[in-house]
Amino acid sequence: MKIVKSNSYDEMSKKAADIVISLVKKKSNTVLGLATGSTPLGLYGKLVKSYKNGEISFKDVKTVNLDEYYPITPSNNQSYRYFMNKNLFNKIDILKENTHMLSGKAVDCDKECEEYENLISSLGGVDLQILGIGRNGHIAFNEPGDKLSLYTHKTRLTDSTIEANSRFFSSRDEVPEAALTMGIGTIMKAKRIIILASGEDKKEAVRGMLSPYLDTHLPASLLSLHNNVTLFCTEDVL
Ligand code: F6R
Repeated sequence: MKIVKSNSYDEMSKKAADIVISLVKKKSNTVLGLATGSTPLGLYGKLVKSYKNGEISFKDVKTVNLDEYYPITPSNNQSYRYFMNKNLFNKIDILKENTHMLSGKAVDCDKECEEYENLISSLGGVDLQILGIGRNGHIAFNEPGDKLSLYTHKTRLTDSTIEANSRFFSSRDEVPEAALTMGIGTIMKAKRIIILASGEDKKEAVRGMLSPYLDTHLPASLLSLHNNVTLFCTEDVL
């Protein structure tokens, strides 16, 4: 795994954004895999700035997000659909119909997940996947466990993730207990992956990810099997 270390969150976000910007400039119909959470916010801010400065257009770009809480409606301000619209999609010229997300109100979750896998394939796969890492080493909502799912699936969130994400809710009880998420295999099929990590609380997870062992209890460690992954991080995680 290649490591790009930065002195600040802002510098890390800029370096990661430069990768996205140069790809979109080179391939206007790029398929981007996107993450939510706090970590990519700086990167999304840089993409918005680049669009507003007239350097880049997202008009032919397609996106697929990693995950969505379940159950949740898209209009709920805690949904990942709401998050993406607010922090990126509403601020750039991307066509909403080209922004794909798992539905938090799907009736048949197995069908929803299978259709999402087919959708990604029909788009020609993900050119560049952006990831964050959970304090427990999860990627997307692939939580630590004895087994990891290859494909998009419904999962129960661990206590650690519910606790970590409760900062976005008014109380811990409001955090949904389940989610729909791409599987490890879905993520690994991306042509290129960038993973962002910043802050002391990610130190242990990053250490595990960079160790020379594969560990299903630290799902990010599986990324070592991919041949084009770059970690963009701040000094405090190393
Ligand atoms: C979000 C996602 C999660 C987050 C991770 C880190 O779509 O897939 O895996 O990337 O929980 O979240 P933050 O960046 O909030 O620390």
